Amino acid sequence: MQSAPIIALENVSIAFGEEQIYDRLSFDVRRGEFVCILGPSGCGKSTSLRIIGGLLDVNAGRVAVDGRDPHQAWSDIAFVFQSPRLVPWRTALDNVLLGSELRFGASDKEQRRTRATELLRLVGLGGDARKYPSMLSGGERQRVAIARALAVDPKIVLMDEPFSALDPNMRGRMRSEMERIWLETAKTVVFVTHDIEESLQLADRIVVLSNKPTRVLEIIELQTPRPRALSDPALDTHRQKLVKLFRSLEQPAVDKETVA
Ligand SMILES: Nc1ncnc2c1ncn2[C@@H]1O[C@H](COP(=O)(O)OP(=O)(O)O)[C@@H](O)[C@H]1O
Ligand SMILES: [Mg+2]
Repeated sequence: MQSAPIIALENVSIAFGEEQIYDRLSFDVRRGEFVCILGPSGCGKSTSLRIIGGLLDVNAGRVAVDGRDPHQAWSDIAFVFQSPRLVPWRTALDNVLLGSELRFGASDKEQRRTRATELLRLVGLGGDARKYPSMLSGGERQRVAIARALAVDPKIVLMDEPFSALDPNMRGRMRSEMERIWLETAKTVVFVTHDIEESLQLADRIVVLSNKPTRVLEIIELQTPRPRALSDPALDTHRQKLVKLFRSLEQPAVDKETVA
């Protein structure tokens, strides 16, 4: 039996000024699921996370997060962005603590410190708690940002192309690490990417978005067991389908004047 979705977007429309971004966009996310939102640049991937996170109101349609209006669900949600946004004069441990300090104030300080230390270990930085961001690599900083998001014990983690600024080697490693972290924490994750391989490694389901005005082109369900290897032949059919979908999105609009 499948549980009720923890996130639901139903016929959502949103416009910035005159420009219609979505064409009645609908998708949902199940509890504990890892969903990748995959789509071309500018199609509204980041916008979808802002809507789910209650940072942006829709013009039409319905959005529910754990059965509530997104504005009421903010405490269930944590964000990880493309850049780690760490405070440079705080150590890795103090950066992890920052999110929970802002949310919960000074109470249970020792308990939160212990938890933050555990989370640094979970993201592979057990020995780096006292280092400052300038002493960490790009990948390590992004791990701190992931630990900081988990430190508020959110039900849902929204991740916006968190590995896209890293070099290809590190990106590959972070994908596998992310899969392990997700398996260990059992959070619901919505992960925005424009990288097909990333979505194949991570997603239970991939929501493929079109160009603007944006709709869901396809939802691909991956049953491949974890931890996954990208060389697994079971992923090939999905890979081929995604490459084909992306090619179709990249077709330039036919120039009517040259055709005429
Ligand atoms: N605050 C805003 N004001 C005006 N246009 C915006 C705003 N935010 C996003 N957009 C536009 O909406 C579209 C979707 O943006 P975004 O969600 O950032 O795309 P993606 O993350 O898929 O690259 C883009 O065309 C972008 O220029
Ligand atoms: Mg974006």
